[in-house]
Amino acid sequence: MSRPRVLLGVTGGIAAYKSTDVVRRLIERGCEVKCALTRSAGSFVTPLSLEVLSGHAVYEQEYLTANGRGEESHIVAAQWADAVCVAPATAHLMARLALGLADDFLTTTLLAFTGPVLLAPAMHSDMWSHAATAAHVETLSNRGVHFVGPEEGPLASGEVGVGRMSEPVDVAEAVMRLAVSGGAGVTGALAGRRVLISAGPTHEPIDPVRYLGNRSSGKMGFALAAEAARQGASTTLVAGPVALPTPAGVERIDVTTAFEMRDAVYRHAGEAELIVMTAAVADFRPSSPAGGKIKRARGVPTLELEENPDILAGLPEVAPRALLVGFAAETEPSVEEATAKLARKGADFLIWNDVSRSDIGFGAENNEVTVYSRSGEPSHLERRPKEELAVALIDLFRDALEDRERSAVGTAG
Ligand code: CTP
Repeated sequence: MSRPRVLLGVTGGIAAYKSTDVVRRLIERGCEVKCALTRSAGSFVTPLSLEVLSGHAVYEQEYLTANGRGEESHIVAAQWADAVCVAPATAHLMARLALGLADDFLTTTLLAFTGPVLLAPAMHSDMWSHAATAAHVETLSNRGVHFVGPEEGPLASGEVGVGRMSEPVDVAEAVMRLAVSGGAGVTGALAGRRVLISAGPTHEPIDPVRYLGNRSSGKMGFALAAEAARQGASTTLVAGPVALPTPAGVERIDVTTAFEMRDAVYRHAGEAELIVMTAAVADFRPSSPAGGKIKRARGVPTLELEENPDILAGLPEVAPRALLVGFAAETEPSVEEATAKLARKGADFLIWNDVSRSDIGFGAENNEVTVYSRSGEPSHLERRPKEELAVALIDLFRDALEDRERSAVGTAG
């Protein structure tokens, strides 16, 4: 997928200085960003800062008309963007948008734009609670406009109240989810859920240049993370050493060893509702990696190994409420082994694939798996591209999450 494209509108409020941070956060997350300033925003943040950070000329007031190439800039911008975010959004901007007024570049673009729109309001709490603002917010919400914030906290006036713009990182994440999912970030099947996925191999150092590793390419885990984000989940991907681009809308944490992977996974596990361990974690590591390169002249070394922690098996304790999924790459598939492994790991699902076949599994474009669950018959998903398999699996996990929640409600009732 190409980089998600976000048009960031900035209006004239004291929070406009935070817009530079929103740009930075979006770019860090792989988005392409263009900025549009209203006339009064220019008093709070300079177009030059936004131009340098975004790498694009900033649209200002005068871009309302043709750009010299016979194109209307607001139409070109509206067709370019996957999502439009206005941060900060003043009461005035919301009023203009609610009424369909189009008297500058940003408002004409918003009228011409058919994709998802996110507003991050910022104003004094009395302005936010004013009946006029409340009516405009309601009109805009009914029209499908999304909101993030405002938050409660200290205001520019020194008072405390509801009206602060949400933190730039939260604004960036919300708009990126909208851009990636075409609006599903708020309404998608996994909207509001947190998903944690591990992928790739781990490398266990033997000396500074050599390691123990395995053939995992990370493709299956990356495809699952891309699909979870597309369905609107807030998705974290803990990736071992692999050469794959970060899927759009996914927060990626790079690790090398099993220990690093365990720490990153456990740090994020508590808040996740679904955890999928596709990583091929090395079971053993050299007990005492050499500090310097092992020299040939010293003769054939003997490697002493010790056991790595089992990350998945520890998850029922770290994340007792999460749905846990393990992957097993096996050369000799067996139902008894699969059932025993499911129980040993305390996982809800075990996705079993046969890596002795060259057309599926490690490094291949396709995969074919059998899904074992603690509660039900195994089911087989026929050979297909890993991206398609990811859709089927994420749908399956989502159904399981929903079933579990329904039965929890049933039990409580
Ligand atoms: N796993 C893990 N930590 C490990 C080893 C494996 O979290 N140290 C996870 C994998 O990410 C995978 C699942 O456990 O989701 C099954 O991996 P597998 O290698 O099949 O499990 P092992 O316990 O190593 O079993 P075996 O003895 O068959 O290799």
